[in-house]
Amino acid sequence: MSAPVVKIAVSGKGGVGKTTIAALLAKQLAAGGRRVLAIDADPVASLGAALGVEGHAEITPISEMQDLIFERTGAKPGTMGGFFKMNPRVDDIPERFSAACGSIRLMVMGTVDSGGSGCVCPESVLLKNLVQHLLLRENEALVLDMEAGVEHLGRATARAVDLMLIVVEPGARSLRAARMIRKLAAEIGIAKIAVAANKVRGPEDEASIRAALGDLELLGTMPHDQALIEDDLAGRAAYGRTDMPEQVRSLLQAIVSRAELG
Ligand SMILES: Nc1ncnc2c1ncn2[C@@H]1O[C@H](COP(=O)(O)OP(=O)(O)O)[C@@H](O)[C@H]1O
Ligand SMILES: [Mg+2]
Repeated sequence: MSAPVVKIAVSGKGGVGKTTIAALLAKQLAAGGRRVLAIDADPVASLGAALGVEGHAEITPISEMQDLIFERTGAKPGTMGGFFKMNPRVDDIPERFSAACGSIRLMVMGTVDSGGSGCVCPESVLLKNLVQHLLLRENEALVLDMEAGVEHLGRATARAVDLMLIVVEPGARSLRAARMIRKLAAEIGIAKIAVAANKVRGPEDEASIRAALGDLELLGTMPHDQALIEDDLAGRAAYGRTDMPEQVRSLLQAIVSRAELG
Protein backbone atom coordinates (compact mmCIF):
# COMPACT_ATOMS: atom_id res chain seq x y z
CA MET A 1 0.00 0.00 0.00
CA SER A 2 1.34 3.45 -0.80
CA ALA A 3 0.75 6.55 1.22
CA PRO A 4 0.17 9.98 -0.31
CA VAL A 5 2.79 12.68 0.00
CA VAL A 6 2.24 14.96 2.98
CA LYS A 7 3.93 18.29 3.58
CA ILE A 8 3.41 19.83 6.99
CA ALA A 9 4.80 23.11 8.31
CA VAL A 10 4.83 23.60 12.07
CA SER A 11 4.64 27.13 13.43
CA GLY A 12 3.69 29.02 16.57
CA LYS A 13 5.10 31.31 19.22
CA GLY A 14 8.58 30.55 20.53
CA GLY A 15 8.71 27.81 23.13
CA VAL A 16 5.26 26.33 22.54
CA GLY A 17 6.70 23.02 21.37
CA LYS A 18 7.01 23.33 17.59
CA THR A 19 10.29 21.48 17.46
CA THR A 20 9.10 18.76 19.82
CA ILE A 21 5.95 18.17 17.78
CA ALA A 22 7.81 18.39 14.45
CA ALA A 23 10.22 15.70 15.65
CA LEU A 24 7.44 13.43 16.90
CA LEU A 25 5.54 13.94 13.64
CA ALA A 26 8.59 13.03 11.58
CA LYS A 27 8.96 9.84 13.58
CA GLN A 28 5.28 9.02 13.30
CA LEU A 29 5.43 9.45 9.51
CA ALA A 30 8.58 7.33 9.34
CA ALA A 31 6.99 4.64 11.49
CA GLY A 32 4.10 4.61 9.03
CA GLY A 33 6.51 3.64 6.25
CA ARG A 34 7.29 7.03 4.73
CA ARG A 35 10.65 8.49 3.94
CA VAL A 36 10.71 11.82 5.71
CA LEU A 37 12.59 14.99 4.97
CA ALA A 38 12.68 17.06 8.15
CA ILE A 39 13.79 20.64 7.61
CA ASP A 40 14.89 22.80 10.51
CA ALA A 41 14.03 26.29 9.31
CA ASP A 42 14.48 27.95 12.69
CA PRO A 43 17.65 30.06 12.87
CA VAL A 44 18.21 28.50 16.29
CA ALA A 45 18.35 24.94 15.08
CA SER A 46 17.17 22.27 17.51
CA LEU A 47 15.22 19.73 15.48
CA GLY A 48 18.23 17.43 15.29
CA ALA A 49 18.38 17.25 19.07
CA ALA A 50 14.63 16.62 19.39
CA LEU A 51 14.91 13.85 16.81
CA GLY A 52 18.00 12.43 18.44
CA VAL A 53 19.97 12.52 15.18
CA GLU A 54 23.61 11.60 15.76
CA GLY A 55 25.97 14.46 14.95
CA HIS A 56 23.17 16.94 14.40
CA ALA A 57 25.37 19.78 15.59
CA GLU A 58 27.77 19.14 12.73
CA ILE A 59 25.28 19.50 9.92
CA THR A 60 26.20 22.52 7.85
CA PRO A 61 23.23 24.85 7.40
CA ILE A 62 22.33 25.48 3.77
CA SER A 63 22.68 29.22 4.33
CA GLU A 64 26.33 28.75 5.24
CA MET A 65 27.15 26.89 2.07
CA GLN A 66 28.58 29.91 0.37
CA ASP A 67 30.15 27.90 -2.42
CA LEU A 68 26.89 26.15 -3.12
CA ILE A 69 24.95 29.41 -3.12
CA PHE A 70 27.52 30.91 -5.46
CA GLU A 71 27.61 27.86 -7.69
CA ARG A 72 23.84 27.64 -8.04
CA THR A 73 22.82 31.27 -8.21
CA GLY A 74 25.93 32.71 -9.83
CA ALA A 75 25.99 35.45 -7.22
CA LYS A 76 28.35 36.20 -4.40
CA PRO A 77 26.52 35.50 -1.15
CA GLY A 78 25.55 38.62 0.71
CA THR A 79 25.42 40.78 -2.38
CA MET A 80 22.30 42.80 -2.59
CA GLY A 81 21.08 43.76 -5.99
CA GLY A 82 23.21 42.65 -8.92
CA PHE A 83 22.26 39.69 -11.03
CA PHE A 84 21.82 36.13 -10.02
CA LYS A 85 19.74 33.21 -11.18
CA MET A 86 16.27 33.21 -9.75
CA ASN A 87 15.73 29.52 -10.49
CA PRO A 88 18.84 27.76 -9.31
CA ARG A 89 18.97 23.99 -9.52
CA VAL A 90 18.12 22.45 -6.17
CA ASP A 91 16.96 18.91 -6.85
CA ASP A 92 20.10 17.23 -5.54
CA ILE A 93 20.49 19.33 -2.40
CA PRO A 94 18.48 17.22 0.06
CA GLU A 95 20.56 14.16 -0.78
CA ARG A 96 23.86 15.93 -0.48
CA PHE A 97 23.33 18.04 2.59
CA SER A 98 21.47 16.14 5.19
CA ALA A 99 22.03 13.71 7.99
CA ALA A 100 20.10 10.49 8.02
CA CYS A 101 18.42 8.86 10.98
CA GLY A 102 16.66 5.74 9.76
CA SER A 103 14.24 6.87 7.08
CA ILE A 104 14.35 10.48 8.29
CA ARG A 105 16.69 12.93 6.61
CA LEU A 106 17.40 16.17 8.42
CA MET A 107 18.33 19.44 6.74
CA VAL A 108 19.23 22.64 8.53
CA MET A 109 18.51 25.94 6.85
CA GLY A 110 20.38 28.34 9.07
CA THR A 111 19.97 32.08 9.28
CA VAL A 112 18.75 33.86 6.21
CA ASP A 113 16.95 37.00 5.39
CA SER A 114 17.92 38.90 8.51
CA GLY A 115 17.28 42.10 6.62
CA GLY A 116 13.54 41.55 6.75
CA SER A 117 10.86 39.84 4.75
CA GLY A 118 11.50 41.76 1.55
CA CYS A 119 15.06 40.56 1.10
CA VAL A 120 15.76 38.98 -2.25
CA CYS A 121 19.28 37.87 -1.60
CA PRO A 122 20.74 34.79 -3.29
CA GLU A 123 20.63 32.80 -0.05
CA SER A 124 16.92 33.26 0.41
CA VAL A 125 16.22 32.64 -3.26
CA LEU A 126 18.06 29.34 -3.00
CA LEU A 127 16.20 28.33 0.13
CA LYS A 128 12.78 29.28 -1.17
CA ASN A 129 13.49 27.45 -4.39
CA LEU A 130 14.58 24.45 -2.42
CA VAL A 131 11.34 24.15 -0.47
CA GLN A 132 9.26 24.94 -3.51
CA HIS A 133 10.96 22.34 -5.68
CA LEU A 134 11.00 19.52 -3.21
CA LEU A 135 8.91 17.31 -5.39
CA LEU A 136 8.22 14.38 -3.21
CA ARG A 137 7.12 11.00 -4.41
CA GLU A 138 4.60 8.60 -2.97
CA ASN A 139 5.51 7.45 0.50
CA GLU A 140 7.47 10.59 1.20
CA ALA A 141 6.78 13.38 3.60
CA LEU A 142 8.09 16.82 4.45
CA VAL A 143 8.06 18.27 7.95
CA LEU A 144 9.14 21.89 8.23
CA ASP A 145 10.00 23.21 11.69
CA MET A 146 9.65 26.96 11.39
CA GLU A 147 10.52 29.95 13.46
CA ALA A 148 7.66 31.89 14.99
CA GLY A 149 6.78 33.98 11.97
CA VAL A 150 5.67 32.79 8.57
CA GLU A 151 6.34 36.07 6.76
CA HIS A 152 9.52 34.78 5.20
CA LEU A 153 7.73 31.86 3.63
CA GLY A 154 6.20 33.69 0.72
CA ARG A 155 3.64 32.42 -1.73
CA ALA A 156 5.90 30.10 -3.64
CA THR A 157 7.04 28.25 -0.55
CA ALA A 158 3.54 28.11 0.82
CA ARG A 159 2.39 26.20 -2.22
CA ALA A 160 4.76 23.45 -1.18
CA VAL A 161 2.90 22.99 2.11
CA ASP A 162 -0.33 21.00 2.56
CA LEU A 163 -1.00 21.85 6.16
CA MET A 164 0.10 24.70 8.37
CA LEU A 165 0.03 23.33 11.90
CA ILE A 166 -0.01 26.07 14.51
CA VAL A 167 1.06 25.02 18.00
CA VAL A 168 -0.42 26.84 20.98
CA GLU A 169 -0.08 26.48 24.73
CA PRO A 170 -2.32 27.67 27.56
CA GLY A 171 -2.09 31.46 27.69
CA ALA A 172 -3.14 34.47 25.67
CA ARG A 173 0.18 35.15 23.98
CA SER A 174 0.51 31.98 21.95
CA LEU A 175 -3.17 32.21 21.01
CA ARG A 176 -2.70 35.74 19.76
CA ALA A 177 0.31 34.56 17.78
CA ALA A 178 -1.83 31.74 16.36
CA ARG A 179 -4.38 34.20 15.02
CA MET A 180 -1.63 36.27 13.41
CA ILE A 181 -0.06 33.21 11.84
CA ARG A 182 -3.43 32.06 10.56
CA LYS A 183 -3.95 35.40 8.87
CA LEU A 184 -0.49 35.39 7.29
CA ALA A 185 -0.75 31.77 6.23
CA ALA A 186 -4.11 32.43 4.58
CA GLU A 187 -2.70 35.48 2.84
CA ILE A 188 0.13 33.52 1.27
CA GLY A 189 -2.31 30.87 0.10
CA ILE A 190 -2.04 27.96 2.53
CA ALA A 191 -5.44 26.29 2.43
CA LYS A 192 -5.30 23.99 5.43
CA ILE A 193 -4.53 25.59 8.75
CA ALA A 194 -5.11 23.78 12.03
CA VAL A 195 -4.01 23.92 15.64
CA ALA A 196 -2.41 21.53 18.11
CA ALA A 197 -2.62 22.53 21.77
CA ASN A 198 0.50 21.64 23.76
CA LYS A 199 1.39 21.69 27.47
CA VAL A 200 -2.25 21.19 28.39
CA ARG A 201 -2.54 20.57 32.15
CA GLY A 202 -6.15 19.46 32.21
CA PRO A 203 -9.71 20.05 31.04
CA GLU A 204 -9.68 23.69 32.11
CA ASP A 205 -6.69 24.47 29.92
CA GLU A 206 -8.31 22.69 27.02
CA ALA A 207 -11.61 24.50 27.50
CA SER A 208 -9.97 27.93 27.61
CA ILE A 209 -7.93 27.16 24.51
CA ARG A 210 -11.01 25.95 22.64
CA ALA A 211 -12.88 29.09 23.60
CA ALA A 212 -10.03 31.33 22.44
CA LEU A 213 -9.55 29.50 19.14
CA GLY A 214 -13.00 30.35 17.87
CA ASP A 215 -13.31 28.87 14.39
CA LEU A 216 -9.68 27.78 14.22
CA GLU A 217 -9.70 23.99 13.94
CA LEU A 218 -8.20 22.13 16.92
CA LEU A 219 -6.77 18.74 15.94
CA GLY A 220 -5.94 17.58 19.43
CA THR A 221 -4.02 18.22 22.58
CA MET A 222 -0.76 17.12 24.12
CA PRO A 223 -0.46 16.96 27.90
CA HIS A 224 2.09 18.97 29.82
CA ASP A 225 4.69 16.30 30.44
CA GLN A 226 7.70 16.45 32.72
CA ALA A 227 9.29 13.68 30.66
CA LEU A 228 9.72 16.08 27.71
CA ILE A 229 11.48 18.60 29.91
CA GLU A 230 13.79 15.87 31.20
CA ASP A 231 14.48 14.77 27.62
CA ASP A 232 15.43 18.29 26.61
CA LEU A 233 17.59 18.75 29.72
CA ALA A 234 19.44 15.55 28.94
CA GLY A 235 19.80 16.45 25.24
CA ARG A 236 17.78 13.37 24.38
CA ALA A 237 15.19 12.82 21.68
CA ALA A 238 11.63 13.71 22.68
CA TYR A 239 10.14 10.62 24.35
CA GLY A 240 13.55 9.05 23.94
CA ARG A 241 13.29 7.19 27.23
CA THR A 242 9.62 7.01 28.12
CA ASP A 243 6.60 5.86 26.16
CA MET A 244 4.65 8.43 24.25
CA PRO A 245 1.22 8.90 25.86
CA GLU A 246 -1.72 7.62 23.82
CA GLN A 247 -3.07 11.18 23.68
CA VAL A 248 0.04 12.30 21.81
CA ARG A 249 -0.17 9.35 19.44
CA SER A 250 -3.73 10.22 18.51
CA LEU A 251 -2.84 13.91 18.07
CA LEU A 252 -0.06 12.94 15.66
CA GLN A 253 -2.44 10.65 13.80
CA ALA A 254 -5.00 13.43 13.53
CA ILE A 255 -2.37 15.80 12.12
CA VAL A 256 -1.26 13.31 9.48
CA SER A 257 -4.86 12.53 8.51
CA ARG A 258 -5.67 16.22 8.21
CA ALA A 259 -2.68 16.73 5.91
CA GLU A 260 -3.57 13.67 3.81
CA LEU A 261 -7.23 14.44 3.30
CA GLY A 262 -8.49 17.17 0.98
N1 LIG B 1 4.03 18.87 26.37
C1 LIG B 1 5.09 19.39 26.96
N2 LIG B 1 5.22 19.36 28.30
C2 LIG B 1 6.30 19.90 28.91
N3 LIG B 1 7.31 20.46 28.26
C3 LIG B 1 7.25 20.52 26.92
C4 LIG B 1 6.15 20.00 26.20
N4 LIG B 1 6.38 20.20 24.88
C5 LIG B 1 7.55 20.81 24.79
N5 LIG B 1 8.10 21.02 26.02
C6 LIG B 1 9.37 21.67 26.35
O1 LIG B 1 9.27 23.05 26.08
C7 LIG B 1 10.50 23.55 25.59
C8 LIG B 1 10.29 24.21 24.26
O2 LIG B 1 9.90 23.21 23.32
P1 LIG B 1 10.32 23.33 21.79
O3 LIG B 1 9.75 22.15 21.10
O4 LIG B 1 11.77 23.57 21.65
O5 LIG B 1 9.51 24.66 21.38
P2 LIG B 1 9.65 25.61 20.10
O6 LIG B 1 10.27 24.81 19.02
O7 LIG B 1 8.24 25.99 19.79
O8 LIG B 1 10.45 26.78 20.53
C9 LIG B 1 11.44 22.36 25.54
O9 LIG B 1 12.21 22.33 26.70
C10 LIG B 1 10.50 21.17 25.48
O10 LIG B 1 11.09 20.02 25.99
MG1 LIG C 1 11.98 25.20 17.87
